[in-house]
Amino acid sequence: MNIPDLSTTYLGLQLKNPIIIGSSGLTDSVEKIVKLEKMGAGAVVLKSLFEEEIIIEMDEKIHSMTNRHFVFPESMDYMEAIDTPNILADYLELITESKKAVAIPVIASINCVSSQKWTFFAKEIEKAGADALELNMFFLPSDNQRGEKEITDITLEIISKVKLTIQIPVVLKISAFQTNLIRYCEYIDQAGVEGIVLFNRSWLPDIDINQLVISSGFVLSSPSDLGNTLRWVSMLSGRLNCNIAASTGIHDGVGVIKQLLAGAHVCQVVSSLYINDLAQIGKMTDDLTRWMVSHEFRSISEFRGRLSQANSGNPAAWERVQFMKHFRSFV
Ligand SMILES: Cc1cc2nc3c(=O)[nH]c(=O)nc-3n(C[C@H](O)[C@H](O)[C@H](O)COP(=O)(O)O)c2cc1C
Repeated sequence: MNIPDLSTTYLGLQLKNPIIIGSSGLTDSVEKIVKLEKMGAGAVVLKSLFEEEIIIEMDEKIHSMTNRHFVFPESMDYMEAIDTPNILADYLELITESKKAVAIPVIASINCVSSQKWTFFAKEIEKAGADALELNMFFLPSDNQRGEKEITDITLEIISKVKLTIQIPVVLKISAFQTNLIRYCEYIDQAGVEGIVLFNRSWLPDIDINQLVISSGFVLSSPSDLGNTLRWVSMLSGRLNCNIAASTGIHDGVGVIKQLLAGAHVCQVVSSLYINDLAQIGKMTDDLTRWMVSHEFRSISEFRGRLSQANSGNPAAWERVQFMKHFRSFV
């Protein structure tokens, strides 16, 4: 049998394989992006650009951490970047230079919590040559004054303003902490985005019991985080017009294959590359190739979504929340 074709399309962009390096410190320089392409990445999402006002606001909030109700996982990185002048100019240069240096798609990322100013950033990013724009819209819905409708309205307002401003594909990266995720994603889809990333990972608080202070929990995911993403990818597959990028807990080729079977168009990876090394990208594509050969699949479209909720023949399995009989075996 011939070598199977790993290529796929995401947001209308042609990718040589479905592995995208997610927004993180792994994608914050041209040198790193060139290396990622060499190591086999299908595309990259650049480190997020944060609006300066939000960073300053975060600064105050991070210093009173004990009163905080939400924190962005990447905010700590940005505390270091806060002194850098011309943060936007540097970011635009990163886009332009990366585009010159690599052939793989370069997706920019901005962090949104309000609809203000993002359209300006979006326009500049498009002009700089980004292939697509990921809106990293991540907040923990901890405000009991803000209902589901308000959160959805803010999200849709941001999408509609950005969509009106730029022509390149727009992707929304969301957190798993939303009321009624299916409905939320359907609204986002109807607002016209080309893709949804499920999910960003929140900074996790911990407690230092010796110092009696709040500390940082695990920054990186583990393979056991895969199941939550898998569940929602499978349930949303086939329901949306837009593409689905799976993110969180994908650490190896097996994780990639599972997400594709559940219906993901692409897989974003970050933690696994921090834990292992960049050679993990090649191991993932090799595992995918071997698995496709053994199942006689020639292209990803032949099996993508085969085990989504709609196609699996066992839709209830994806919605099961109690362990019941599984608990019984743990005596
Ligand atoms: C050190 C670090 C920095 C990150 N920075 C960003 C960022 O700037 N923007 C963003 O959207 N996500 C950021 N993330 C989240 C990742 O893109 C990804 O969604 C998350 O880590 C889950 O994927 P994983 O399980 O493969 O790590 C960051 C994650 C890590 C570990």
